[in-house]
Amino acid sequence: GHRHVERATPEAVLAAVEGDHGPVIPDYEPLDAYRAGGGYAKLAELREGGDWEAVQDMVAASGLRGLGGAGFPSGRKWGFVRANPGPRLMAVNGDEGEPGTFKDRFYLERVPHLFLEGMLIAAWAVEASRVFLYMRDEYPAVLEILRREIAALEGAGIVGPGYVELRRGAGAYICGEESAMIESIEGKRGLPRHRPPYVAQVGLWGRPTLVHNVETLHWIARVVREGPEVLSAHERNGRRGLRSYSVSGRVRNPGVHLLPAGSTIRDVIEAAGGMAEGHVFKAYQPGGPSSGLLPASRDDVPLDFDTLQAEGSFIGSAAVVVLSDRDSARDAALNMLRFFESESCGQCTPCRVGCEKAVKLMQAETWDHGLLTDLCDVMVDASICGLGQAAPNPIRLVMKHFPEEVGAKAAALAHGNYATDQSLEG
Ligand code: NAI
Ligand code: SF4
Repeated sequence: GHRHVERATPEAVLAAVEGDHGPVIPDYEPLDAYRAGGGYAKLAELREGGDWEAVQDMVAASGLRGLGGAGFPSGRKWGFVRANPGPRLMAVNGDEGEPGTFKDRFYLERVPHLFLEGMLIAAWAVEASRVFLYMRDEYPAVLEILRREIAALEGAGIVGPGYVELRRGAGAYICGEESAMIESIEGKRGLPRHRPPYVAQVGLWGRPTLVHNVETLHWIARVVREGPEVLSAHERNGRRGLRSYSVSGRVRNPGVHLLPAGSTIRDVIEAAGGMAEGHVFKAYQPGGPSSGLLPASRDDVPLDFDTLQAEGSFIGSAAVVVLSDRDSARDAALNMLRFFESESCGQCTPCRVGCEKAVKLMQAETWDHGLLTDLCDVMVDASICGLGQAAPNPIRLVMKHFPEEVGAKAAALAHGNYATDQSLEG
């Protein structure tokens, strides 16, 4: 017999998963405490007749770069957006989908108003008529904090009703790509757009749109409130600034560790309490799966923007995963490609088919070095967005640094017997 099934509302599903009490809300700094410490005074001062270019110069002097992972000079974005006639909009990227990245969550669950003030300063700087805050739905506590605190800001008259609109992502990695996020906010499927035009010119509903990551805005507030030295005074290995490394894997104390930009993996492991008991450091993911894996022997590279290019990698959002002698680099790379295969939006062939083929090829006992290399080249050259362009990094780096794990044939091919291999034909 058939059973009548009630159609569950999203609220009912949430209540079933979380209980009726909702998520556990951490002990964060609410609006009154933040204001008691001088919070929102700068914003009020700027709105009274501040000079946006002076603020932009201050941000530039701090050296702040986009902390979503691309490292674009933060101060320069405002000028790009303002170069286009209004109305202008702002979208905040809080999707934080990069595996191993949890720094945005860390700050939002502790000091949400630093982020919110930074957001309102940036919105003021470009004269944004509305702000869309795109938050990862897997962070229920963060969503609740933001709901409460945005309402508190409205209640205090710091923002007008509805000026800041909270939007929930639905768990698609690609919706963290800024143009896919914009499509998603517009209510469409999250497919990345071709660039140019950049969102600074053509963004939400065709309007010039300022996009910043959550942590970038946290630091904008700190730079404006405390001066550019809050970042620029820190130096290590010739690099300036600070990085919030999200550290996980085989370390004693995983978590967010704020260190000088330019810290090496040794510094990061030390800050995380050293290797876990009984584990020997073998390899690390410097910044999300698209940054691939580097071997322990590359332990003297400063982990900052631009410094990992020569290694065929990048720091991205600084999601450091530490692997030990008990982990397989090959399995880690396969896991990364499986992730890209399932998260590819599928709109372009090199990425959609490429990720799938890569996963098949990587499951073979010995990797076909030549074929995988060709596949990687096509994906890098012909994919529309960063997902497909960077997905080959784990493959390339594991073939380079861990040839013994991907089979004798692969090792031989890597050493020059490429042309004689029969399997490369046809
Ligand atoms: P990108 O370098 O193409 O763009 C960075 C930003 O600068 C964008 O906002 C873009 O619009 C702007 N921009 C660049 N050139 C511009 C120009 N000429 N005029 C105006 N604006 C310009 O990098 P993309 O593809 O946005 O980001 C890639 C990074 O994202 C990777 O490094 C990766 O680490 C990171 N990522 C972070 C995730 C997270 O959860 N935080 C998830 C996945 C990737
Ligand atoms: Fe979509 Fe991949 Fe193409 Fe990006 S590279 S647009 S994720 S299919």
